Amino acid sequence: MKWTFALGLFTATTLAIPALIPGGGGLNVYKLRLSSRTKALDGQYLGVNGSTVGVFKTASSATPVQFYPVTDKKTGLVELHTYPIAAVDQILALVGTNGLLTFSNVADPAKAAFPRGTTCDWKSFRLAGGNPTAPGRPSNSLAYAGSNGSWTAFPSGNKGDWSVKWKGADAYTTTDSMPIEVVYEPIEKIVDENGDGIITIA
Ligand SMILES: *[C@@H]1O[C@H](CO)[C@@H](O)[C@H](O)[C@H]1NC(C)=O
Ligand SMILES: *[C@@H]1O[C@H](CO)[C@@H](O)[C@H](O)[C@H]1NC(C)=O
Repeated sequence: MKWTFALGLFTATTLAIPALIPGGGGLNVYKLRLSSRTKALDGQYLGVNGSTVGVFKTASSATPVQFYPVTDKKTGLVELHTYPIAAVDQILALVGTNGLLTFSNVADPAKAAFPRGTTCDWKSFRLAGGNPTAPGRPSNSLAYAGSNGSWTAFPSGNKGDWSVKWKGADAYTTTDSMPIEVVYEPIEKIVDENGDGIITIA
């Protein structure tokens, strides 16, 4: 089904962006939060600096990244498309080499070029708690089914900033990296109210 989105993002300007959303029934929009025994990380929302997804102190990068899941009906695995929908579809992906994959925001990853030997996987996420609507439930963890491993935060850039990586079982790590869980939290459900395929966000 083809959807057209009329996005009025808190401004007077209305932007119409055609987007193909499988499934229909509107969009569930989420943001991502860390759960960790490390105090500085626990409860922090994930933002984006450049293409890196992580914890950033600067206001522009601290704004929580929002996504809507697109589920592969056969495997149950999900793609995490960022929201608001941009002219070029942006998808959260794990990008890296040697089993150490950086959580990244990638524009149209199917067409993106990476150096030989680089993994870019945006199709193997799992929303462990389904599509919940009640915020803050700790069971809502974001899992990665592409390799055996765990989520890890690495100090990055400015003091107090962290990048988020998926560390494969055999990947190298540094002593200042910290184990984390990534949980997702509902923000809103964008409903197609009159079923005409046009969604307006006030
Ligand atoms: C994880 O490890 C198990 C046991 O070695 C293996 O069977 C499975 O295929 C691995 N999963 C992935 C995604 O590599
Ligand atoms: C983004 O990352 C770069 C490189 O690590 C850093 O120099 C810059 O200050 C960061 N910006 C923010 C807003 O965190």
